[in-house]
Amino acid sequence: MNCKISQCVYRQKNALISTLLPLFIILICCGTMLFGCADSSDKKIKIGLSMDSLRVERWQKDRDIFVAEAKKLGAEVIVQSADGDPVKQNEQAENMITQGVDVLVVIPKDSIASSQIVKAAHEEGIKVIAYDRLISESEPDLYISFDNKQVGYLQAEYLLRKKPKGNYFLLGGDPGDNNAHLLREGQLRALQPAIDNGDIQLVAEGKHWAVGWDPLDALNKAEQVLTKTNNQIDAVVASNDGTAGGVVQALEGQNLAGSVLVSGQDADIEACQRIVKGTQTMTVYKPIRLIATEAAQAAVALAKGETLEKANQTVNNGKIDVPSIILTPIQVDKDNLDEVVIKDGFHSREDVYKTE
Ligand code: BGC
Repeated sequence: MNCKISQCVYRQKNALISTLLPLFIILICCGTMLFGCADSSDKKIKIGLSMDSLRVERWQKDRDIFVAEAKKLGAEVIVQSADGDPVKQNEQAENMITQGVDVLVVIPKDSIASSQIVKAAHEEGIKVIAYDRLISESEPDLYISFDNKQVGYLQAEYLLRKKPKGNYFLLGGDPGDNNAHLLREGQLRALQPAIDNGDIQLVAEGKHWAVGWDPLDALNKAEQVLTKTNNQIDAVVASNDGTAGGVVQALEGQNLAGSVLVSGQDADIEACQRIVKGTQTMTVYKPIRLIATEAAQAAVALAKGETLEKANQTVNNGKIDVPSIILTPIQVDKDNLDEVVIKDGFHSREDVYKTE
């Protein structure tokens, strides 16, 4: 070889590299195939679950079932509850975005304020699911809920069947919750013919809403209406079980519990017990296992960039037609409590029929 030492060393080095490099690449490839590492699709999916609050009993079930299902599917979940504060909810969601979640599932405290969450997430390419409550003024990727207009319809339709004439008080849910308005729409759909022919009178013009779905606010408002009407109330269309509890307490104060009809929603354990006791007339059962499981599956699918086969309808949120999964609610009274709520494993028979 006719070269200087430095040139020779350089050439030998080059020859060594060109022989070893392919070997090195083959080794890495084999290692990857054998141990399945270094593939970004194997990264654990991270889901952010942003909740309005955990105060109403059902939300704890929603959280537990959602987290369990997501884990079963190999995802991890960060859960944050905003304690009913929309500003806090937006901050918590921002924080989860910073933590690098792949998808955000939001139970909004306020349907308008939470549109900021959708916008911020989308800027980072993160998909958003509106869970149980619709988010407006933005473009959520999925809305999953029960048919809330139907929930309202089932509440009022039941009471009307039991009491076709009389004074009705409509107590709405939180005015910032889109569901509260859907419920009212359904309630009026059931009552309107009877209002029009004069069989039903709405007291307090049906304008009361329980702020934050707070049972205490419901109690105060029911007391005000009882005072104003001199106890001339035949039925209270309460929009959920928590507020129904407040109403029943107000009725108890006037010895009217059991003689005034009261509706509800959620099949909370205390509501089921009141139904057995006769102080609450009915509730609407929504299988939480179903919505929480479906939502977790949808979150994982969205994170993987898959299409959502089950989102086969849309709901307009004022801005777009949001792909939606809408589940069916069930009317429950003392006659089908066992068949629906207990049989579904929502509560035990022992708890429902517990007498203090
Ligand atoms: C839900 C109800 C719940 C209420 C209060 C509504 O949006 O649909 O199930 O009782 O919020 O948390």
